[in-house]
Amino acid sequence: MTTSWRNVASVTQGRETSDGAGVRLKRIIGQPELDYLDPFLMLDAFGSDEATDYIAGFPPHPHRGIETVTYMLAGRMRHEDDAGNAGVLGPGGAQWMTAGRGIIHSEMPEQEEGEMRGFQLWVNLPRKSKMCLPHYQNIEPEEIPEVTREGGVKVKLIAGKLDGIEGPVRGIEANPQYMDIQIPAGGISDHEIAPDHNAFIYIFSGEAEVGANEDKAGTLIRDGELAVLGAGDAVRVRAGDSGARLILVAGRPLNEPVFKYGPFVMNSKEEIVQAIHDYQNGTFSAAQVN
Ligand code: FE2
Repeated sequence: MTTSWRNVASVTQGRETSDGAGVRLKRIIGQPELDYLDPFLMLDAFGSDEATDYIAGFPPHPHRGIETVTYMLAGRMRHEDDAGNAGVLGPGGAQWMTAGRGIIHSEMPEQEEGEMRGFQLWVNLPRKSKMCLPHYQNIEPEEIPEVTREGGVKVKLIAGKLDGIEGPVRGIEANPQYMDIQIPAGGISDHEIAPDHNAFIYIFSGEAEVGANEDKAGTLIRDGELAVLGAGDAVRVRAGDSGARLILVAGRPLNEPVFKYGPFVMNSKEEIVQAIHDYQNGTFSAAQVN
């Protein structure tokens, strides 16, 4: 079988914004240049050494109809929800939260100085699971396998399979791949991606040619840029002279209508009206109705 290499279909830089109570971040998916990459609704990159950029955190807010995925590179974030769940996410840890019918939670820095860096990804839920009971997969750093490949490539596997090893996140509708990939200068890393999945690469250190193959160079993607991948069953990444670090994320698209209002993402306007009604009337979250 010959490999059908994915090209770069589009590139976005994202835009600087702030969210929560005033956390500075860069929104890469979920902004006008790249509104939705089914099933991915949002990708935020946060990263600062200045406490004033993150200290206000994300005070209590609701979610319905989606999953929120947090991956911490540096710093510590405390999470608490209205069902009494709480925990601290530290460097190298991840949380895959399926909000389902609803949770109200806060995400606040567990530090007053130093570096805070990471990503939050929102994954849409299919119609049949939008009102499911909320659940979490909290992944400690030591539960994330690190695969070492030829040429000194290192891959942290949060979700999906690589070289016969599987990441710890399980049972997610989107059948996701989520990998943190470090490639030394000039090194190459090839990655299989299910042909029916949408996929992107976001570079957060160095630069790389993405979508190269045997015959041609790929598209140069720089630090802070996201490449949406075209059709195919694998992607080749070749790091530039200073190496590259990136996340590769893929998931099965839902192909369903999307109606969103802030942290509520449903299939119809009526369901959004219902979510707002439930939130205003204290019948929103799983904890409120149980
Ligand atoms: Fe949240």
